[in-house]
This record gives sequence, structure tokens and C-alpha cells, in this order.
Amino acid sequence: MEKPKYHIFVCGSFRVSGESQGVCHKKGSLQFIPYIEEGLRDRDIDGAMISMTGCLKVCDRGPAVVIYPQNWWYGNVSGEDALDEIMDALAEGKPAEKYLLK
Ligand code: FES
Repeated sequence: MEKPKYHIFVCGSFRVSGESQGVCHKKGSLQFIPYIEEGLRDRDIDGAMISMTGCLKVCDRGPAVVIYPQNWWYGNVSGEDALDEIMDALAEGKPAEKYLLK
């Protein structure tokens, strides 16, 4: 089994019931997955896996995206421009400071 070099978690606001409810979902996070997949391909970033998650408990700063193993937690990921900045930084091996949660 080949393990991912990067694991990108996108908050899908899923609750225990399985329903997707919450800030990130309401702000369009479910649409992030195909955009990230395409963006990774465009930037030749190999070895990345993307997963949709339950609530990451930073709702007041959602939509939230996390990249492991770097442990980069991003908030206020408002859409395509933010995702582009995050993926551009990832391609350079560094975090996108503007969206980092501290
Ligand atoms: S719904 Fe995304 S952090 Fe809570």
C-alpha cells in the first residue's frame, strides 16, 4: 500500500447522524473536492489524498481545510481563490500563511 504524501481534509460538516450540516457545508465546502483534485493535477502535486470530514470544530472560522502530516490548519477558505493560494503554497512546500489558523 502506498501511503499519501499529503492528506488534505476538507470539512464537510457531517454530524453523527450522517447529515451534512454546518458552516463549512453551507459555505460550499462540498464543491472543494473536485476543484482541489484538478488543482493538484495542474500543479503536478503527486501523492495527495483528499477526504471529506465531519465537523473539525473550528466552525466560527470555516470553511476549514487541514493538510497532514504538516498539520496546517486553514480557516476562512472562502472558495477557489483561497484554494489556489493554498495549493500554490503546497507546491512550494510551505503553508499559505494568510489562511493558517493559529
Ligand atoms: S462545520 Fe466545519 S468546522 Fe464545524
